[in-house]
This record gives sequence, structure tokens and C-alpha cells, in this order.
Amino acid sequence: MKFKIFSILSVVLCCFLAATATLIESDGFSELESLKLNFIEPLPKLIESSTITRYYNLELKVVKLSPDGYERPVWTANGQFPAPLIQANKGDRLVINVTNNFGEGTAIHWHGIFQRESNWYDGVPGQTQCPIPDGVSFIYNYALDQSGTYWYHSHFMTQYVDGFVGPLIILDPDDPYKNSYQEDYVVLISDWYHSLSSLLLAQRLAPHYLGFSPYPDSVLISGLGQYNCSSPAAGENCNPNVPLPAYNVQKGKKYRFRIINTSALALSTFSIDNHPLSVIEVDGIPVKRAKAVNILQIHVAQRYSVILTANQPVANYYIRASIIDTCLLPRTTETINYNSSINYNATGILHYYGAESNKPTSTPYPVTMQSCGDLDPSVIRPYNNCPAPTNVTNEFVFNITFDRSENDIGILGINFSTYIPTFDNPTNQRIIGKENYKDFEKDQNAFGYDIPYGCVQITVLNNLIVNHPFHLHGHTFWLVASGPGPFLSNITTYNLENPVIRDTTNILPGSHIVIRYLADNPGVWAFHCHIEWHVSSGLVAQLIERPSEFSNQTLPEDVRALCSRYKKQKRLATLPRNSMVKRVHMYRKVK
Ligand code: C2O
Repeated sequence: MKFKIFSILSVVLCCFLAATATLIESDGFSELESLKLNFIEPLPKLIESSTITRYYNLELKVVKLSPDGYERPVWTANGQFPAPLIQANKGDRLVINVTNNFGEGTAIHWHGIFQRESNWYDGVPGQTQCPIPDGVSFIYNYALDQSGTYWYHSHFMTQYVDGFVGPLIILDPDDPYKNSYQEDYVVLISDWYHSLSSLLLAQRLAPHYLGFSPYPDSVLISGLGQYNCSSPAAGENCNPNVPLPAYNVQKGKKYRFRIINTSALALSTFSIDNHPLSVIEVDGIPVKRAKAVNILQIHVAQRYSVILTANQPVANYYIRASIIDTCLLPRTTETINYNSSINYNATGILHYYGAESNKPTSTPYPVTMQSCGDLDPSVIRPYNNCPAPTNVTNEFVFNITFDRSENDIGILGINFSTYIPTFDNPTNQRIIGKENYKDFEKDQNAFGYDIPYGCVQITVLNNLIVNHPFHLHGHTFWLVASGPGPFLSNITTYNLENPVIRDTTNILPGSHIVIRYLADNPGVWAFHCHIEWHVSSGLVAQLIERPSEFSNQTLPEDVRALCSRYKKQKRLATLPRNSMVKRVHMYRKVK
């Protein structure tokens, strides 16, 4: 197979973030009032008439960068953080050539992409492929039969926390809202750590650890943040004046903002002073326009598109992304990095053409969040009426459980079973090799169902004191129930008529959700909490969908070949993340 790879990226991507660091300095008033801005370009327009194959090249390497001013090694694609924009039209095929020079294994998950008949490109080591070994190239090649706002990230250990995240946007020529706005912007929100995630994870999974998930050091908007470099913990290479991310608007026009939370841990709020936001998309699903929101709350891995009307006086306005402390974690002194000098509020600038470059005088909307959960369902009803299926054919109840292993490691699990990945023996290859998932080891957390187009119902009960934003691979689901009470007896009202449809939903502490989806996509699909510290603590299930049919699909040779190469490298190498893998396997043995 020979693909001509050309670098759309160098054009497209440079526009996106890094290369467009146009600095404007104030020409009036005092230094204090001046703004340093890093303008972020709107999405480039694609030629929309025909569906084509689009080629992208991602070279993965670790580079020193200072996203919030504090310098640290960042896991990048093409040297960029966030990783380059990947963009296509519905119906296109994506061919993405990945060269791994991270110095350890990796794999890329395309979050929200269905991967119909290409389960082996879903990018989950141990489930859908072996990791891409260091120094090896691998091509992801899949068709897109959906549209909307997605993202891609490493699914290998906690690697995405070190920076390997990027936007994946699929345009639909028939988007119901395409005439409702003139330009299209992408905003990535993330929490950010100054230590390598491998070190944080080692602490998190150390015997006798009694804290919660590591506390972040910063909040970033589209890869830019403001760290207080005078904090005692700040290193020498720290710049307190990182330019603010800025988005240009023309008075009178309308803009679509696609907001993606690529965090490891934290729910974030997003708002733009004086500009209410009208939600039109949730995780790739167009929604009916309801009352605009002043503050959007967005959990880890979720996406929203909103429409902003530039109808305010020509000026600068603050864009704000904030972690709400009370929704995060108890700041116990046992928790890793509990004394971080995090600034909870990242800011950016909405800049009207013609405005001066002085600081905004705008003030934030009052925080009126009713809960730390998802956005209110009444503002995110699906655009197309699409009731949930009523005949459940397969039903599962997952309790989110916390336990301590025999080494006194704090582990999470599904019904007290903590998931342990076997990176060099991916589940879908076992299924294709005609193994029966019912015979899998208990720590594989494998749950199967085999009825074509059956309706699967999963109830998740969260009896713990922290949030768990759960994500389902390969599907969207109907969120038919959610509410307080972590027991089956608490589940009372189902909405089958017009439930929210999405691929990631939060489960509040002491609460439950019930989801339904159609078994329309044979393969092996992860269902897990998207808090990356929880993934690595075992809060993962594998859904084995229609194995009798899936086992007849043909695995591409290069996907299989990854495994022999990975095994070989694993034997030889003591790569940092690989030795972490060993530790995790060693220590996380359950009682
Ligand atoms: Cu963003 Cu398993 O996914």
C-alpha cells in the first residue's frame, strides 16, 4: 500500500495556532494596560462539494515548551501543542501517517469517531491494537460517516496528560446550522501539570497513598495559560507574560465556537463576557436552539458548539475558562500537588476588529451553576427527534468501586474488578482469533452481547465522592436517566422520548446514569471514566460487541505486525513509560 503523504498540515496547522503568534503591543497608556495577544485563526474553509481522502502526517516527539510560561517537556505532534488541527468533510476518508519518536510506545484514539468496520484503528492499546513502538510509523486509515467536533489523544497510559491532544473537526455540507454563522473557531480547554504524568501516576499508584487525583498547576485556553512565576515552586525557565489567546470578531457577524475539554481531571466553565452563547452541538450531535447560556460547563472529553453574536460595542472582552474548585476535589494534604499555586481562571480575549489593544474592562457573568454535572438537558435536546429504543436486549449494571489492593494501592474498578490492560495482546485480536470473551481473565472487565442491532442498556452507579465523566467508544448513546442516588432502587424516571444524545456524560458523586445504545458496530469498545488518573487506576470496561460477526472481520497485516514489533521492543527496552507499565502491572494485583 503506498500513499502519497503531503503536508496539508504545514499550511493548515500553522494557521491554527503556533505560527500565527501575532503580537500587538499597546501604543497608549501605561504598560499595565497593554495586551499581548496570540491570535487564533478561524477554521480554514474546505472545498465542500466532493468527498475525498485527506492525508495527514503526525511526527510525535517530546519538545520543551512553556504553555503557561513554565517550561517542561511536552508530548507534541509536529512540535505543536495542542497537536495540529485535523479537518475533513463528512464522507471523507482520513489517512494519518504517525511516526512515533516519543521514546516510548503510543497509540492515537480518535475520540467520538465510530470506526465502523475499522475497530483496529480506534487506538486503544490492549483493546484494539498494540502500542506503536518507539521509532515506528503506523497509518490510521478510516472513513468518516459522521460530523461535528471531536478530538484525538494518546490512549497509552497517561500520555495525553503530557500534551498529546488535538482537535478533529468534521464539517457537514448539510449542517442544519451552517448558515447561522460566518466563521468557525476551535477552543481547547485543559488543566495542565508541571510534572510529568508518569511521575504523578507513580505517586498516585504508590502503596499506602491516601490522596485523590493529582492537583493541576494551570488552566489553559487553546494551549496558553498564565502561571504565577513568582510562586516558590516555579522553575527558572518561567515566563509570567505568555500572550493571551485571542479570537477576532467583526461587529454584526456570528461565529461558531467549538469548545473541547481536553483535561485530565477537571470540569471547566467557559464564558465570554457580555456574550451569551447559544448551544447548537453536543459531542457531534446537532441540538435544538434553546435559551442561550451565559456560562457553559464542560466535563472532561466533552464538546459543545455555540453561536456567538458579535453585537456588543467594539472593544475587547474576556474569554474565561475556569476550574470550579468546589466541583474538583477535596484539597487534602495527602493529595499530590495539593499546594500547587494554580490560577483557577484562564483568560483569553474576544477582540472586535477596530478595538484598541487595551485590557478589557468587562466583568464576568455571576456563576450560577446549579450542579457540577453536565449542562442542563433542556438546552441540549437533539435537533432531530430521535426517541430512545424501547426494547432492551442486553442489560448491565456497573458499580464504580474503590478498593485497596493487596499492596495497599488505591484502585478503582467496575463491580470491584480493576481493569489491567495487556498491551501486547489486544482484545480485538483475541476475538478475531476466535477466543470467547467469557473465558477472558476477570481483570479484562469484558462484557459481551451478540444480538445485531439490539439495544444495550448500561446503568452506572457512582457511590463515591468524586465525578466520573464516562465515555463510550464507537457510539453515541441516549442518556435515558440520571439523578441522585447510587442504587438501582433510586432509578425512577426514564426519558425515552427526547433524551440527550452524546458520547460522554458525567456521573455526579452519589448518583447514577442509565444509557442506551444500539449494537450497530461490531468490535471491542472501551467504556470508561475519562479522568485519566481513573483510567490508569482501572476504571475501564471493555464492551465486546457482536463477537460472532466481528471475529469474521479481517485484521490488516500492519496492525498485527505492530504486536511483534512492540513485544520485541518491550523485551529490550527500559523506556520510561514502559517501565511504568511494568510497575502498574506488578503493583495493581487485586486482592
Ligand atoms: Cu477520549 Cu477512551 O477516550
